[in-house]
Amino acid sequence: MTLSGNSPKILVTGGAGFIGSHTVVSLVNAGFEPVIIDDFSNSERSALDGLRAILGRDVTCYAVNCNDADIMADIFRKEAPIGVIHFAANKAVGESVAKPLKYYRNNLDPLLLLLELMPQYSVQNFVFSSSCTVYGQPEHLPVTEETPRLPAQSPYGNTKAIGEDIIRDAVTAQIPVKALALRYFNPIGAHPSAEIGELPLGVPANLVPFITQTAAGIRPSLTVYGDDYNTPDGTCVRDYIDVVDLADAHVQALKKLIEAPEGASYDVINIGTGRGETVLNVIKTFEEATGVNVNYVIGPRRAGDVEQVYADVTKANRVLEWSARRSLAESLRDAWNWQKKLMK
Ligand code: WQD
Repeated sequence: MTLSGNSPKILVTGGAGFIGSHTVVSLVNAGFEPVIIDDFSNSERSALDGLRAILGRDVTCYAVNCNDADIMADIFRKEAPIGVIHFAANKAVGESVAKPLKYYRNNLDPLLLLLELMPQYSVQNFVFSSSCTVYGQPEHLPVTEETPRLPAQSPYGNTKAIGEDIIRDAVTAQIPVKALALRYFNPIGAHPSAEIGELPLGVPANLVPFITQTAAGIRPSLTVYGDDYNTPDGTCVRDYIDVVDLADAHVQALKKLIEAPEGASYDVINIGTGRGETVLNVIKTFEEATGVNVNYVIGPRRAGDVEQVYADVTKANRVLEWSARRSLAESLRDAWNWQKKLMK
């Protein structure tokens, strides 16, 4: 889709990453002009090639660190965006335990800078990438946004909780930003074109990239971390949200913010399917959807894992007029097509 020269610009920090790149596609499809800010410290420049293949055009990209105040001020001045979607952050739970200062620096400083710059350049609309990890192990399921946040299970999770508090306090102080924090559940899948997808650097920590690498023979087998939980088949339950649906949720959030009256506002919204799936069912669904067998063994529980978490998506349905459309099978088929593309 081509864009007219006057399409409203949206800064997308981390826009070359997994969720960021898919959101860039959704933004263009919705008539916005995304401006990517990504230092490629946790993403690949090849994502820009994939975006060009999907969109038939280049997307402006500043290969800079979004923590540099002078550079960011120049970008705000030059691009005059009407909104910001802030993805840029480190997100490896395990790494955050080993390197907490890196996570607090990288995940919080850019947020503070954006909140300082947006009012200076009359940018009012702000979407923040948060995570269901702030809930820990909820007492009641499905989990609603009113569920009290539990002490973070990791420095990574803490940066998301603190990030939400920073935005809330800024809005309480009447900093003129309309903000939505989207609490993602478990993002999976890839764009149906197989031109963009998840690029796990090194050994995947997350389930679905490990499944696709095992199916591809890159990993000898998958270890299922525990089958003695109090769940239907003994394995953990999660809410696996397709990355294209997740991207569309960001566009809906942005549209609702733009429509909202001027001023300072803040809210949090769960972005999930509302369905819980066990690890074994994800494996089974993958095999049925692709016809490819996955070797797995049952291993010990992984420290820090919650037993069950899945979203109540009533608020997303109502406030964003959004719901997940893609099935687990479709997401897994797209993830597999992306894995095969990576191996060409
Ligand atoms: C899912 C399930 C594992 C790998 C994390 C972050 C969260 C968010 C999403 C950023 C669990 C099991 C996994 C494997 C397995 N990230 N598993 N074998 O831990 O729910 O969430 O990623 O926002 O913040 O915490 O996702 O994909 O790592 O695990 O059995 O090789 O799959 O035990 O039950 P998780 P995950």
